[in-house]
Amino acid sequence: MSIVTEELQQSDLRAVLQNINLGVLLLDSDCRVVFWNDFMVLNSGQDGADVVGQLLFDVCPELPRLWLQKKVDAVFALQNLAFTSWQQRPYLFSFSGSRPITGQAEAMYQNCTFSPVLDAEGSVKFVCLTIADATETATQHLQLERLNQLLQAEKDEQARLIRKLEDTQAQLLQSEKMAAIGQLAAGVAHEINNPVGYVYSNFSSLQGYVGDLFALIDAYQQAAQQQDAAFRAVLEEINRKLDYEFVREDMADLVKESRQGLERVKQIVQDLRDFSHIDSGDWQPADLHKGLDSTLNVIWNEIKFKAEVIKSYGELPMIECLGSQLNQVFMNLIVNAAHAIEKQGTIWLETGCQDDWAFVRVRDNGVGIAPQHVSRLFEPFFTTKPVGQGTGLGLSVSYSIVDKHHGRLEVASELGQGSTFTVWLPVRQPQPQPQGGGDSPVSER
Ligand SMILES: Nc1ncnc2c1ncn2[C@@H]1O[C@H](COP(=O)(O)OP(=O)(O)OP(=O)(O)O)[C@@H](O)[C@H]1O
Ligand SMILES: [Mg+2]
Repeated sequence: MSIVTEELQQSDLRAVLQNINLGVLLLDSDCRVVFWNDFMVLNSGQDGADVVGQLLFDVCPELPRLWLQKKVDAVFALQNLAFTSWQQRPYLFSFSGSRPITGQAEAMYQNCTFSPVLDAEGSVKFVCLTIADATETATQHLQLERLNQLLQAEKDEQARLIRKLEDTQAQLLQSEKMAAIGQLAAGVAHEINNPVGYVYSNFSSLQGYVGDLFALIDAYQQAAQQQDAAFRAVLEEINRKLDYEFVREDMADLVKESRQGLERVKQIVQDLRDFSHIDSGDWQPADLHKGLDSTLNVIWNEIKFKAEVIKSYGELPMIECLGSQLNQVFMNLIVNAAHAIEKQGTIWLETGCQDDWAFVRVRDNGVGIAPQHVSRLFEPFFTTKPVGQGTGLGLSVSYSIVDKHHGRLEVASELGQGSTFTVWLPVRQPQPQPQGGGDSPVSER
């Protein structure tokens, strides 16, 4: 409760009310103005003498009439304070800012209080409406908010960069792994290539010599027919003991099969070389079918017990690409397809060309992908495989390789039916930008 000492005159109080740095006005229950202090005069430009006795809404037509009347009614009915802050309603009266404000704030932000003024009987006589200029607080607050937003944006950007860093690290890890595998494959291929080469060539000679030896034996046997019975008996005994007829027949098969085996070893060595592309890590026109075939041979062991592979290759021109990197993509897609097959299934490899785009499609009739996983497939480290069986990098690395080729990697899948991954590649890479293209993928070449 406020105490008014005796020496303080009513006129003094009135002077205080007039001069206080707050808008003060008294309203009756109809919202007629009973008192209007200097702050109001100054800011509204309307003199107290003209305003007192008028309806507040006539004096200030900008006021929200219904809302304000409701507030005043509530104070009369409940004898309670009501309040509105600049945050809920920035401007009640359209006053201009009380100080030169830099920035956007041109109007005065206001905090308003509606308080009951009681008569001697304790009923509400007037409503005292005070208006505090909150422009400074509001401007600082808004400035802080803007700064906060900037900080938040910066934080988001940092989070994005960290994610990018993680992606890059994952890709680096995978490409290091692939480089190591590639190097190993290339080394092994190189080591095997030499001995296989001379064994293969010796084998051709051996095949010829065996033919010659048999011809010689035939001639001897013919000549033996002219000899006496004892000699022939000894010879027949040797023939029987050594099972000469069988050896003679089997020898041809052995030589033929061994030759086929050697050819297969030669092919594997060639595939390993193609796969790891020891000769070129450059952008070069490549035959994708060759890449697919050699990749398939390298991973054949992982697939042969699980799936039948059906190739349906279309016409493909030479594609400008990083051959060994695309082989990694094919490998990841085919191995994933094989892993998706639980017991026995089929993997379809389809290729073709539409306009200036080539496609390589790997389709399987495996378990399929749950719809909620589809959007996460290309995230690094996303895997549904048990710990130790999948790193979850295959698809994310494949995605970035295809992206580097300015291509697209599409996926379609139905749970329980199978999945289809399609690599789309432009036949020719876009030309580098003439200037300032330091960031373009082509300039990485
Ligand atoms: N053909 C497919 N059929 C069903 N699910 C698939 C297929 N291909 C990928 N997936 C799903 O996508 C996930 C991510 O594949 P990704 O190749 O990136 O990683 P991974 O195979 O789990 O591990 P790795 O790093 O060894 O390749 C897989 O764990 C699997 O759940
Ligand atoms: Mg994989």
